[in-house]
Amino acid sequence: LKFVCYSNDCVDEHMMCLIGLKNIFARQLPNMPKEYIVRLLMDRKHKSVMVVRPPAGGNGITHVVGGITYRPYHSQRFGEIAFCAITADEQVKGYGTRLMNHLKEHARNVDGLTHFLTYADNNAVGYFVKQGFTKEIYLEKDVWHGFIKDYDGGLLMECKIDPKLPYTN
Ligand code: ACO
Repeated sequence: LKFVCYSNDCVDEHMMCLIGLKNIFARQLPNMPKEYIVRLLMDRKHKSVMVVRPPAGGNGITHVVGGITYRPYHSQRFGEIAFCAITADEQVKGYGTRLMNHLKEHARNVDGLTHFLTYADNNAVGYFVKQGFTKEIYLEKDVWHGFIKDYDGGLLMECKIDPKLPYTN
């Protein structure tokens, strides 16, 4: 397994992975309109951290296991998680946790972020709590209000990214 971070940059391999991730989101987030998923995934302000299974040998294709699509707001130093999912037959094996750890490491080291915000679906609140997200929002409202989209169907949650902790090894 490999963790990668791609965005819409017209590199064939990256685009194939983004399409694989789109298919996972479309299945796992049935309340999200497919057009909206595609729009954010392909929007160049968004990035996707993915867990992928490289081809076993030769010329096979990379298989996407899951991913998280987010938008970094560099000047505000927070990121908004738009979508997060693991493919059905690979859930509850720890990939969602490892994915979140890679996201935190990437967002801190590459984007310089200190926090994440997300609107969590009700059934995913438990997962986000285990990843260190809280229902209390400690960030000042003027840092994020007007930047992130209001979204009826979920609960706004926040996670502070530790400035030093090695999240991956
Ligand atoms: N509710 C409560 N706890 C959960 C849930 C859940 N829905 N999913 C996982 N957990 C727990 C696991 O039991 C595990 O606990 P443990 O560490 O005590 O054993 C821990 O969270 C981590 O589990 P992982 O195996 O790492 O999680 P997984 O690989 O299954 O990924 C995910 C979690 C992404 C929520 C996955 O189950 C999924 O794709 N679900 C469907 C789509 C979804 O709901 N996505 C989030 C929507 S909100 C959004 O996208 C902003």
